[in-house]
Amino acid sequence: MMNRTIQPSSSVRGEIAVPGDKSISHRVIMFGALAEGRTDASHFLMSADCLSTIACFEKMGIRVETDPEAGLVSVYGKGLHALQKSDSLLYTGNSGTTTRLISGILAGQTFDSVLSGDASICKRPMRRIMDPLSRMGADIRSENENECCPLRIHGQQLHGADLTSPVASAQVKSCILLAGLYADKRTSVTEPALSRDHTERMLSGFGAKILSEKTNEGYKASIEPDPMLKGQTILVPGDISSAAYFIAAALITPRSEVLIRNVGINPTRAGILEVVRRMGGNVELLNEKDAGGEPVADVLVRSSSLHGTEIEGELIPALIDELPVCAVMAAYAQGRTVIRDAAELKVKESDRISSTTQMLRAMGCDITPTDDGMIIEGGAPLHGALIDSFKDHRIAMSAAVAALGAEGETTIQDADCVDISYPQFYADLASLCS
Ligand code: S3P
Repeated sequence: MMNRTIQPSSSVRGEIAVPGDKSISHRVIMFGALAEGRTDASHFLMSADCLSTIACFEKMGIRVETDPEAGLVSVYGKGLHALQKSDSLLYTGNSGTTTRLISGILAGQTFDSVLSGDASICKRPMRRIMDPLSRMGADIRSENENECCPLRIHGQQLHGADLTSPVASAQVKSCILLAGLYADKRTSVTEPALSRDHTERMLSGFGAKILSEKTNEGYKASIEPDPMLKGQTILVPGDISSAAYFIAAALITPRSEVLIRNVGINPTRAGILEVVRRMGGNVELLNEKDAGGEPVADVLVRSSSLHGTEIEGELIPALIDELPVCAVMAAYAQGRTVIRDAAELKVKESDRISSTTQMLRAMGCDITPTDDGMIIEGGAPLHGALIDSFKDHRIAMSAAVAALGAEGETTIQDADCVDISYPQFYADLASLCS
């Protein structure tokens, strides 16, 4: 693993197109594999996480062709019932999305599978999918009996069920909906707040019958079993989670103006735009349009004097991956920012309450971790520091943004973990900085 040193920047200016959306890219491979015929996607994210998903489906007999330079992928799907048993463990790398969504698919197969990933994946909680899948009749066990990977899944006929998830998690919701494809009747999952709805949108586009509704209990998504899924042509929008770093960089750096082209602004993902508005940031959406069922826009950002805010409640799932970089914006904003209702941060690629706190503290920020978030007293100058990324891509990229406005240089340890979601990140950032 390699270190990377970031110098302060006097301005951040120019135009950029961020790589394709990670959540949507994973789903292109998974849904394409279960559909009849070919699925073609452009602006596909060729990052380590998505390559983990591709490798898993290749092991199950699905042909996937990639053209990394052109960002093109073709998946040669064979239908819902054509996956083959892998002759070795399915390795999901660092990817929670791969691990949890594939588990839902594997639970309903006619064969057994074992899946596991890297050290971080082996610490992440899987009970949240093991419980609901078991209620559908699945046989899924944690090999070390610690409710984590490796998972051993004995595929079998699943039963439709009406399930509730205690957490607003698109990975849990999607896992259940995918298992529902293989159930004997309708399957529903209700979550307390609406998590990203790419599965509902995309799987409907492939031909599944999915109903989304708001009920007294929360947000409910239901799926009918055994649909005929058909291969699709998909243009993957730019990832707002990657755009977030340039939005923050332009806001906190004087004399900055950045245009980020073709960013997905699905409301279940775009919570960062709301936070920026609340902090007094200057962000405009231009050329808003629909790209195959997902709203996209160009995002124009200018330097702004930010002030503190409160980030909580149903907004949290719409910016869960952006909270580390929101904390960086808060450090450069005047006054106090409080992040609450975000205990989920503890079970991401790192414990992001702890890793974000350590990153910003090392740079001189007054930040206090809480049980479900952080309190940041913004406005004091930051200084460069040696930062532990905890091999977490979002911590490394957030630290790089924080470094732009700090006094002196910042060195990020294990900085190449950005390969998980954004291999070109440092080059793209450098192209805008002066
Ligand atoms: C994702 C869902 C979120 C998010 C992750 C991607 C997805 O995880 O943090 O980066 O693609 O469904 P949770 O479902 O654990 O909140």
